[in-house]
Amino acid sequence: MSVLITGGLGYIGSHTAIELLQSGKEIVVIDNLCNSKEIVKDKIICITKKDFKFYNINLLNGNAVEKVFKENNIKSVIHFAALKAVGESVKNPLEYYDNNIISTLVILKLMKRYGIKDIVFSSSAAVYGNAESMPIKENQSLSVNNPYGRTKLIIEYILKDLYKSDNTWNIALLRYFNPIGAHESGLIGEDPNGIPNNLLPYISKVAMGQLKEVSVYGNDYPTIDGTGVRDYIHVVDIAKGHIKALEKLDNKLGLVIYNLGTGKGVSVLQIIELFKKVTNKDIPYKIVGRREGDVAQCYADPTKAQKELGWQAEKNINQMCKDAWNWQRKNPNGYN
Ligand code: NAD
Ligand code: WQD
Repeated sequence: MSVLITGGLGYIGSHTAIELLQSGKEIVVIDNLCNSKEIVKDKIICITKKDFKFYNINLLNGNAVEKVFKENNIKSVIHFAALKAVGESVKNPLEYYDNNIISTLVILKLMKRYGIKDIVFSSSAAVYGNAESMPIKENQSLSVNNPYGRTKLIIEYILKDLYKSDNTWNIALLRYFNPIGAHESGLIGEDPNGIPNNLLPYISKVAMGQLKEVSVYGNDYPTIDGTGVRDYIHVVDIAKGHIKALEKLDNKLGLVIYNLGTGKGVSVLQIIELFKKVTNKDIPYKIVGRREGDVAQCYADPTKAQKELGWQAEKNINQMCKDAWNWQRKNPNGYN
């Protein structure tokens, strides 16, 4: 019996594939490589010494995906595959709705047809929009600021409706905060196309001397130093959360929702300072205007996952920066 991982060669998917293989599970991966590289498969095998089946398939192609269901004995699905760049989603909403929502429907319909009812879905703190109070609990009201976030919220509703229609499904909605860092081996990590949009990959490239300086988007927020505060969490901790969620689904507990965060907020200036210390590199920055759509702060209350899943983040922000730097230093051009 295998766990089907969609988007399993991507940033979080590849780290989760490693945790699953290392915990003795068999996996099957679907990824169309629109934001990842096939070499990631070799790296996963190199780290785990375990092989697995990989299908280079677009999830929008239902017939091709059905072949995967026919050829494998799938027990559960972890659905990572999605487009995830917020700015791009504002420019190109139809592509985001099409890719993220239709691919989910393809997977869910096939799961239903083949009697597979356990799914872990990659949701996001984006579904909390501009949350009214911190730290954010799972039962806080939901709202979104952009098409990307809306795809996540719509899929959450689709999954809730599906569960209402048939409560023999087991569904875990995991709302990740800001995943950063990389596997300790330095063999896999985050490899964004072009100039990074997210803070950590950007800082890493400035530390490498590949980009001139970090633009800090605003220093007039009501936060500790005026810059944006986020809940950065090590990608390996996120990956481990999926193992716990799958265990939970084995106990047939219906639809569950968990924040995956550390519960600690860190500001942009704090993280630049930390990265400087860890790398011993100069990290020039300049303060610029706020980025449209940004919120002042966003950090989780992770106690529900702690109590019910027995999961909590183990790696601190220092370790996150160290591992991000280890990956960046060893792979100055990512997977290229
Ligand atoms: P990623 O882009 O590295 O991984 C996604 C993978 O899905 C990529 O390998 C891509 O090639 C694949 N993919 C996309 N569309 C596909 C399709 N139609 N068919 C087949 N494969 C397809 O992203 P990630 O950071 O690993 O994120 C994984 C999931 O977690 C996404 O759903 C994302 O929205 C969610 N998430 C990410 C973050 C974050 O900051 N990284 C935060 C919250 C939620
Ligand atoms: C972090 C902080 C910026 C870049 C995004 C998505 C969210 C989720 C995680 C998927 C903010 C500041 C950033 C830079 C900066 N993804 N910043 N200079 O926006 O919290 O979350 O990724 O679900 O949906 O929106 O992450 O890394 O872009 O920004 O000052 O060059 O760093 O303003 O305060 P964000 P981020």
